[in-house]
Amino acid sequence: MSTAHNRVAVLHGVNFDVLERRDPEIYGGISLSELEMRVQRAARELGLEAIFFQTNSEGEFTEYLHRAPELADAIVVNAGAWTHYSRAIADALELTGLPAVEVHLSDVDSRQDWRRVSVFDGLVLAKVTGKGPEGYRDALATLADELGVAGR
Ligand code: DQA
Repeated sequence: MSTAHNRVAVLHGVNFDVLERRDPEIYGGISLSELEMRVQRAARELGLEAIFFQTNSEGEFTEYLHRAPELADAIVVNAGAWTHYSRAIADALELTGLPAVEVHLSDVDSRQDWRRVSVFDGLVLAKVTGKGPEGYRDALATLADELGVAGR
């Protein structure tokens, strides 16, 4: 069994499977697999190993979080629209007991008012918004510090 404590689960919620079809002005026209490749590259540079999960089902997302402590040492979460209303997902994230950072590609605070609300408030080490794919690197760097992992 690995004793590295460097595994980060990078979780995407609803509508991320069609990321390349979403408004390119807001989301950059990138696909989820391109995004995940960039995130994995950044993770390895930081001495981390990313594992990825995406679903459009709130129940599956919750169940993945239930298993997360067996799979990972930390979490990056971009739950999409669920961020703004799913207390079930917030409860499941809290239950993991793992350090987590919330990421949004877009600047949720400068869009509609309802996007300013996050169910993860108070549960995450940091919230990174509006930096596009680079925001994931910031999130991973925060988690590498938290886990005491040194990069290359
Ligand atoms: C998002 C922002 C959310 O408000 C939205 O519902 C998404 C994507 C982002 O990454 O910018 O689906 O999480």
